Amino acid sequence: MKKYTLLIIVLFYGGFLALGQNSKILSSVKNVETKVDSVLALMTLEEKVGQLVQYNGSWDLTGPASELDNKQKEDNIKKGLVGSMLNVLSVRATKEAQKLLMENSRMKIPMMFGYDVIHGYKTIFPVPLGETASWDLEAMENSARIAAIESVANGINWTFSPMIDISRDARWGRIMEGSGEDPYLTSMVAIAKVKGYQGNDLSGDLTIAATAKHFAGYGMAEAGRDYNTVNLGENELHNTVLPPFKAAADAGAATFMNSFNEIDGIPSTGNKNLQRDILKGVWNWDGFVVSDWGSIPEMINHGFAKDKKQAAEIAIKAGSDMDMEGGAYESSLLELVLEGSVDEKLIDDAVKRVLRVKFKLGLFDDPYKYSNPEIAANISYEDHKKAARDIARKSIVLLKNENNLLPLKPGVKSIGVIGPLANDKDSPIGNWRAQGEANSAVSVLEGIKTAVGRDVKVNYALGTTLGIGERSFLMPLEINTTDRSGYKEALEMAKKSELIIMVLGEDAFQSGEGRSQSKIGLAGLQQELLEEIHKVNKNIVLVLINGRPLELSWSSENIPTIVEAWQLGSESGNAIADVLFGKYNPSGKLPVSFPRTVGQEPLYYNQKNTGRPSSDLHVTYSHYTDVKKDALFPFGFGLSYTQFEYGEIDLSSPEMNADGNIEVSIPVTNTGKVIGKEVVQLYLRDMIASRTRPVKELKGFQLLDLKPGESRIVKFVIEEKMLQFYTINKIWESEAGEFEVFVGGNSRDVKSAAFNLIKNKA
Ligand code: NOJ
Repeated sequence: MKKYTLLIIVLFYGGFLALGQNSKILSSVKNVETKVDSVLALMTLEEKVGQLVQYNGSWDLTGPASELDNKQKEDNIKKGLVGSMLNVLSVRATKEAQKLLMENSRMKIPMMFGYDVIHGYKTIFPVPLGETASWDLEAMENSARIAAIESVANGINWTFSPMIDISRDARWGRIMEGSGEDPYLTSMVAIAKVKGYQGNDLSGDLTIAATAKHFAGYGMAEAGRDYNTVNLGENELHNTVLPPFKAAADAGAATFMNSFNEIDGIPSTGNKNLQRDILKGVWNWDGFVVSDWGSIPEMINHGFAKDKKQAAEIAIKAGSDMDMEGGAYESSLLELVLEGSVDEKLIDDAVKRVLRVKFKLGLFDDPYKYSNPEIAANISYEDHKKAARDIARKSIVLLKNENNLLPLKPGVKSIGVIGPLANDKDSPIGNWRAQGEANSAVSVLEGIKTAVGRDVKVNYALGTTLGIGERSFLMPLEINTTDRSGYKEALEMAKKSELIIMVLGEDAFQSGEGRSQSKIGLAGLQQELLEEIHKVNKNIVLVLINGRPLELSWSSENIPTIVEAWQLGSESGNAIADVLFGKYNPSGKLPVSFPRTVGQEPLYYNQKNTGRPSSDLHVTYSHYTDVKKDALFPFGFGLSYTQFEYGEIDLSSPEMNADGNIEVSIPVTNTGKVIGKEVVQLYLRDMIASRTRPVKELKGFQLLDLKPGESRIVKFVIEEKMLQFYTINKIWESEAGEFEVFVGGNSRDVKSAAFNLIKNKA
C-alpha cells in the first residue's frame, strides 16, 4: 500500500505525466496491479476510451472497412487514443506504428499488435481440425510455440487463437479452425495452445498473448450457416460449449474474443451473462475481451441496438472490453460516460484489464520489444519445418486399408498420381494461413517423388481442375463442373499404372470463415473422375486434402484405401509420403464424426439417447428411414498398419465414494507385425441424472507406443470431478448413481464396465 501511494505521488508530480520518463520507477515495482492502478489514475477519460479501441492496419482487410481514413487513424495513434492494432505486419511496420504513439502521445502507453496466427505464421502447420487428429498435446503445444516465435520475429505480440468453438456440423466452414465436436478434447488442446503461445511467462522474449475465441456458441450456428442464429439451452451452453473456454481461462489465456452470433436472442457481444457474470465473475478471469471484427455495431443488424451509440453502451455494460474495428467505442463511449449513461467504473475496469496484459507482456519495460530484427535473424526455419512434418504426419488418419494396400510395398514399379490436388502446392496451406506463402507447400507428387527410389516410375495426371481462379478471402468460389478435358490422359495413365494415388478434396479456401456449404461431397467433377478411374483400375489409394469432414459413402464402399490428410501445411507432401511408404505408421484419430450423408448433420457421437433410441426397428423415431443412424467414420476412429486388441476392463471397485476414486485397467496388445501408436480413449456415461446426459463422453486418453506382440495394461483413474456436470442446480456437481465406463480405440468400438457413485445425503 505504501509503495502504491508513493508510486502515484511520484508519477503524478514527476514531469507532465510522461510515462516514458517514469518507466524506470514503474519497472522497479513488482506488483502488476499496483502498476495498473497507478497508470490508470493518471489517464484522462478520453485516453481511457482510447485503450479500448483497436484499429486495423489496413494491410490485410478481413471485414467491412472502417469509416476513418488512415490519416485520421494516424492522428489518433499520435494522441494515444488507440489501444491496439491488428494486421500490422513486420517488425518495421509495428515499430513505425509504435513510434508514432510513443513519440507523440502524452501517456505513452504502448499498443499491442494482434494477428490471426491460427496454424502457424510462416511455417504452416496442419489446420487446427487436422492437428487435433494427432491427439498429441505436446506436439500441438510445440507448433504454437513455433508460431509464437515466428510472430515475434515479425512484430506480433498477440494471436487471435486458439479457436475453441465446439462444432458438430461439417457444413460450417469454420469447423476447420477448431478442434471438432468434443468438449474434453478441445479443452485439452486449448490448454496446450495457450501454453505454447504464452509459455510460462508472458513477459518472455518469445511469447505472445493468446485469445480464446469465439465466446461463445459460434460453432453451433443453425444448419452450419456461418454467422447464423444459435439456439442453445443452458444445458448445452454449460456442458458442451463453455468447458474449453473455462479450461483456457484457467490456463491463463490473456484475452478472449467474443462472437458474431446471438444465443437465444442475445448477441454474444452484448451478453452480460456470458462475459461479465460467467467469465469475469464466476471464473474470476482477469484478462480482457476483444470484440470480433465489427461485432459491436453489428448488433444494429441483429436488431438489438438502434445505432452505434446504443451498441457501444450495450457492449461495454455486457463486458466487451475492446472494440475491433467497429468504431463504436471511439465514437460514443466518451459521450456515454459524460452524459451519465455509462458508469466510468466500467471503463476503468476494461482499461485495467488491457493495461494488465500490456504489463504482463513487458511492453511498458520496452515498447519495441516485439520489433526486434535480431529475433528473425536467429530463427531456424529448417527446424520449424521438421516440427511441421512431425505433426503433419501424426495428424493423418487412415480411414480404410483393405487388403493392406498401404504401406506401399518396395516391389511396386509404377505409381500413377492423379487429381486436381495431387500437385497442388497451395491447398495444403489451407485457410487462415497468416504469412504462409501461396504455393509453398510440398505437394503430394513432390513428396512421393522424393520418397521413391529411382526404379519406381511415378506418372502424374491432373484429371480435372477444381476450376478455381483467383482465390481470395471474400470471393465466392467457383468450381469446375464442365471441363473434362483432362480425363483422357488420366484414364490412359490409370490403365498402365500398377497402383493409383488419387488426391482429391477441397481447395484451400473452400472451408474457413464465410465458407459454409450445403454439400460436403467431393466438389466439382472429382467424384465423377474417381468413379471413371475406378472403372479401369481398382487399386486406388484415395488421399484427401480438406478442412471439413467429407461425405465419403461411395468411396468407403468402393475404394480399398482412404487416407484423410486434411490441409497439413508446409510439409504436407512429405508427411503424406512418410505414411504412404510406411516411414510413419499412421496414428491419427478423427476429432469429428464423418457422416454417411450430409443430411445427417449435425452429427456427433456424444448425443442423447432420446426416449425412443432403438436402432433395430424398421421404423425408428430418432433417426432417418433412408440412412443408418451412426457415422460412417465415428469420432475417435483411425486405423494403423498394425492392429490393437483390447482385453476386458477391470475396475478397482464397483463403487466409488465422492472423495475416492476408481482405477480402470485394460490390457492393450499390438497383435500386428509393426510398431504402432494407439490413442486409448476413456468414455463415461452418467446413466440417470437430473439433466439427461450424453450416451458417451470422452474423459481421458493416452497415447501408447507398442512393439509387435507387446501388451500393456493401460490405467485411468476416475475421480469425482470427472463425473461432474452443470446440473439442474446451476452448479457443477456430480450425482450419485450408476455410471458406465467405456475404453476403446474409437468412440464406437469399446469395452465397457459399470460402477456406482455413492454420495452421502446431507
Ligand atoms: C473475424 C473472425 O471471426 C475472427 O476470428 C478474426 O480473429 C477476426 N476477424 C480478425 O481477423
